[in-house]
Amino acid sequence: MPLPSKITLVEVGPRDGLQNEKNIIPTDIKIELINRLSDSGLSVIEVSSFVSPKWVPQMADNKQVFAGIKHKTDIIYPVLVPNRKGYDAAKQAGATQIALFAAASEAFSQKNTNCSIEESFRRLEEVAKLAKQDKIKMRGYVSCMLGCPYEGDIDIVAACEIAKRLYDLGCEEISLSDTIGVGTAGKARKMVETAASMLPLEHLAIHFHDTYGQALANIYACLEVGISTIDSAVGGLGGCPYAQGAAGNVASEDVLYMLNGLGIETGVDINKLIDAALFICQYLGHKPTSKVSRALLAKREAKQEAGQKNS
Ligand code: HMG
Ligand code: MG
Repeated sequence: MPLPSKITLVEVGPRDGLQNEKNIIPTDIKIELINRLSDSGLSVIEVSSFVSPKWVPQMADNKQVFAGIKHKTDIIYPVLVPNRKGYDAAKQAGATQIALFAAASEAFSQKNTNCSIEESFRRLEEVAKLAKQDKIKMRGYVSCMLGCPYEGDIDIVAACEIAKRLYDLGCEEISLSDTIGVGTAGKARKMVETAASMLPLEHLAIHFHDTYGQALANIYACLEVGISTIDSAVGGLGGCPYAQGAAGNVASEDVLYMLNGLGIETGVDINKLIDAALFICQYLGHKPTSKVSRALLAKREAKQEAGQKNS
């Protein structure tokens, strides 16, 4: 199969990237990050989550973030929702797309949402029914597709059946998630092929964390089997509070650099994306984990130094 000519990048940095940060980040910094990302040409930016603030305090300012950002009409700003309470709050905030999440592992479901997989679907069914009535679009995530921090290996067919259940609930796009970044290219490809045998390929997305440095290789393998939507986080931010040791998401700028090199269109400006990465990483007090950001930053610094010497 030829590689897709166009890819949609789903930026999850403001949510997945920041949810694990221990120190509470001021709301205006989050808003500035999202506005910078909006200016980079991205078409989907997940901005926050309407989960319990006791469980994830970093996302407690969800309403303020959603109200404070500049909403561009050609950008979708989804928010993560676990249950009816989160749904009501997201709707009140004005969300037009919500992201539901379920797990392929029973133990992870318990740790992440304090309930079984079956109970999580009962909650999500209630949310999906309301979202359909309210014409709020839905995307879905399946965590632990390629491994669980508590259960280890996961049966890929059973995992894809969870994806199919989310699709049947009305999620227009299902993001197959390697929560702890243990997957390798062959498994990633098999994951997409298996899911695509149960639901349409064009409704699938991929979501890799980069714990073992395999994310780009995994993404390439998934491109070869026709994936055209990729989740990533600016600066390689992230981790999951309920998946100890999980590293950040694959960095958006690394994915974009690879796609640019392959001549695949995304509509995203790499320099603006890197500026957004540098902005948030400077606030957090560390360099981006992204190799592309680091390389281009070093290049910029060398150029500046040469300019100063010459002036
Ligand atoms: P629970 O404690 O079982 O909930 O948590 P509960 O229904 O028993 O309620 C307890 C209290 O929480 C009550 O308040 C509720 O009102 C409140 P109290 O009476 O004690 O004052 N509450 C809420 N407050 C605000 N918003 C809500 C909400 N729901 C209840 N939505 C719950 C169950 C699901 C809420 C909790 O476990 C939770 O919030 N979990 C989310 C954890 C999370 O955000 N994890 C990270 C996101 S998932 C992820 O990162 C994976 C992903 O990136 C893909 C991948 O990589 O795998 C998507
Ligand atoms: Mg994630």
